[in-house]
Amino acid sequence: MYQYDNIDQTIVNERVTQFRDQTSRYLSGKLTDDEFRPLRLQNGLYIQRHAPMLRIAIPYGLLSSKQLRKLADIADRFDRGYGHFSTRQNLQLNWPKLEETPDILEELSKVEMHAIQTSGNCIRNITTDQFAGVAPDEIIDPRAIAEILRQWSTFHPEFSLLPRKFKIAVSGSKQDRAIVQAHDIGLEFYYDKEQKMAIRVWVGGGLGRTPILGSVIREHLEWEHVLTYCEAIIRVYNLHGRRDNIYKARIKILVKALGVEEFKKQVEAEWLHLKNSPNTINEGELKRVTKFFTQMPYEKLKDQDDAFDEVNKNNKAFASWVKRSVHPHKQKGYRSVTLSLKPHGLAPGDATSDQMRIVAELADQYSFGELRVSHEQNLILADVKLKDIFKLWEKAKAHQLATPNIGLLTDIICCPGGDFCSLANAKSIPIATSIQEAFDDLDYLHDIGELELNISGCMNACGHHHIGHIGVLGVDKDGSEWYQVTIGGKQGNDASLGTVIGPSFAAEEMPGVVKKLIDVYIKQRNPEERFIDTVRRLGVNPFKEHVYA
Ligand code: HEM
Ligand code: SF4
Repeated sequence: MYQYDNIDQTIVNERVTQFRDQTSRYLSGKLTDDEFRPLRLQNGLYIQRHAPMLRIAIPYGLLSSKQLRKLADIADRFDRGYGHFSTRQNLQLNWPKLEETPDILEELSKVEMHAIQTSGNCIRNITTDQFAGVAPDEIIDPRAIAEILRQWSTFHPEFSLLPRKFKIAVSGSKQDRAIVQAHDIGLEFYYDKEQKMAIRVWVGGGLGRTPILGSVIREHLEWEHVLTYCEAIIRVYNLHGRRDNIYKARIKILVKALGVEEFKKQVEAEWLHLKNSPNTINEGELKRVTKFFTQMPYEKLKDQDDAFDEVNKNNKAFASWVKRSVHPHKQKGYRSVTLSLKPHGLAPGDATSDQMRIVAELADQYSFGELRVSHEQNLILADVKLKDIFKLWEKAKAHQLATPNIGLLTDIICCPGGDFCSLANAKSIPIATSIQEAFDDLDYLHDIGELELNISGCMNACGHHHIGHIGVLGVDKDGSEWYQVTIGGKQGNDASLGTVIGPSFAAEEMPGVVKKLIDVYIKQRNPEERFIDTVRRLGVNPFKEHVYA
């Protein structure tokens, strides 16, 4: 875990006091709606369909079991006994009472948590890889850099009123699991030809109304300059980003309007003033911040376990779960394990307070009391001993946390849509559950193989539909709910945006549409070919023809 120092704790405590006063002034009529709006948004509080919605920050997706237990207690005491893990590694509460939100923030502050930077036109919660620190393909543990960025951006006076929200993602490994190309700034660490660590800087990516994948603005940045270079980028954006039109305010629009070359020229000119200034990070600073993260007391183990091999051979249900949910680890004898928050028939990404407590217990028993949240809306125990995996599975299974569907069609990314969100054009949770129910045969799911299906209830794209192999977007047609389908989107190093296959469908047609897309794939696939690769090879047409036949 990252452990707060006095400065971190003071900031969070002062924020609670300040927000308590702001809320009470609003409730007593001393502040108008307009005056209160920016104050509440700075503390993650939205006004939503049924109730306010509170978005709690989980910086770089890292949680301790103690924090998760606190979230469970908050969900019971102040909400309806559950929370929603979002695609930006945050937790959303859908039913808090406005007058109780200062109390919620106070409870959070007791476990080094807050809701700062989860909303508003500032640099938002920095996201990264859920396997940070343990992935075998890692170049650098990205969390220390993400933490340095967090410290630098929290309350940054120059960047607290940007033209629009600003999202930064850091990938520290060869496989990009942080979707750097779909962020305002994406930082991709790699080794250069001299085997020195460097950063490829992506800029101007983002989904939403105008989906654009980022462009490389600098191929090789010496990592020491990460802050000053980000500072230069955001300064250019802050100066020239459009404030007259909310739909054109994101940096992606500025980069597109100027062209990457011109944008880069301006950033480099700005950087000349900033390069080597005190915000330059040196080894010492990186080490200092790294020390705030708990070092795990790994045991020296063999990378093989007879009992594990035995049960993996003889227990089919366990083996199919292992295949999807257990991931390689840097340390011999350890694995990372994904607990699925996508049991069939329930809202993707939701966890009940009981489940949160169970996961906290599992983290204590099997993973040094720590866990992570992925942008796919699942929970990860990063440091599980090979020999403990079977016991872990049995316990997780008993609490609906071991659906063996990680990376498969029913591991759906889904925004809250019309059930909760006032911006929605259509519901998205019932679409997810109806598709999950239509693909309830686990053997078939495993046979279909890797497939990402992402659903958003409107063009804001919280459910990342553009980068789903299959993407579903809720649209409004004459006051009724319809769904537009895209295929061929992909996250990761070779990211792509999906292509719309044609006119939209009614809700009840959606499971059938997905089935038809799968039929084409099953018929046309080469051995070992994933759905996305078949789509890339054949193009949209065969799929389109079958679906609209
Ligand atoms: C329930 C209340 C929510 C509201 C009012 C809300 C609001 C918005 C808005 C207005 C945008 C569009 C911004 C733009 O112009 O790019 C957006 C985008 C986004 N939101 Fe939400 N959102 C909500 C829930 C969520 C949830 C549940 C998630 C995650 C599951 C999420 C994560 C995101 C993400 C990832 C984007 C992506 C678009 C981009 O790349 O910028 N939001 N949200
Ligand atoms: S995509 Fe639209 S409907 Fe879904 S959560 Fe975001 S704003 Fe709401």
